[in-house]
Amino acid sequence: MNLILLGPPGSGKGTQAKLIVEKYGIPQISTGDMLREAVAKGTELGKKAKEYMDKGQLVPDEVVIGIVKERLKQPDCDKGFILDGFPRTIAQAEALDKMLEELGKKIDAVINIQVPEEEVVKRIVNRRSCRNCGAVYHLIYKPPKEEGKCDKCGGELYQRDDDKEDTVRARYQVYREQTEPLIDYYQKKGLLYNIDGTKSIDDVFKDIEAILEKIKG
Ligand code: AP5
Repeated sequence: MNLILLGPPGSGKGTQAKLIVEKYGIPQISTGDMLREAVAKGTELGKKAKEYMDKGQLVPDEVVIGIVKERLKQPDCDKGFILDGFPRTIAQAEALDKMLEELGKKIDAVINIQVPEEEVVKRIVNRRSCRNCGAVYHLIYKPPKEEGKCDKCGGELYQRDDDKEDTVRARYQVYREQTEPLIDYYQKKGLLYNIDGTKSIDDVFKDIEAILEKIKG
């Protein structure tokens, strides 16, 4: 199964992608995680990306397209993949169509997780992520057992640099302008499934599972 998770920042794409990985054993390809890794390593790409990320803006298309192109060629993508946070512009979606055609693959479903702006802000300002394994928590909805410590690996929990309220609102605006047009793009291709992302994490996953079981046939 080749999937795209679409939705505004904080809609739960990363959380749901991890649940899909656990159940279906296909890899999560998160451009946000890959860019943050480059930032943490201090690579040239990371330095360039950080300038955009800290302002809540999108990293230039050609940079992100190059990263995804390399990732999709890896053998673990042969059995399927979950694109989380890519594509985010029409140019990225068109580039994806082209690279999938070259690889002889196609997208099976685009899952659009819908959450309004005020809920997104509430979720993101209380998000904490594990520096070591990337697990995601929420101080109210999904708190770690021990404050500041990851349940899975004991790693340190931190707040992302772009998770301050002003930046979150800027990211939501960027989503409305540049990413929302993808809903129509994939609707026209007959690939779009809308999900109510305001439900609990478990209930959202149940709705996603129902779609995946249907498309698996
Ligand atoms: P990226 O890392 O992709 O961020 P995003 O799309 O803004 O999404 P988030 O990671 O913030 O949220 P999410 O939807 O994964 O939600 P999560 O599951 O964590 O991108 C960051 C930056 O990188 C961009 O701004 C851009 O600069 C750059 N970038 C990345 N990709 C790019 C691209 N393709 N092109 C150009 N630039 C790119 O959940 C959020 C919180 O809510 C968590 O605390 C979670 O525990 C909680 N939660 C989740 N679901 C629920 C629920 N159902 N109920 C209650 N709480 C919930």
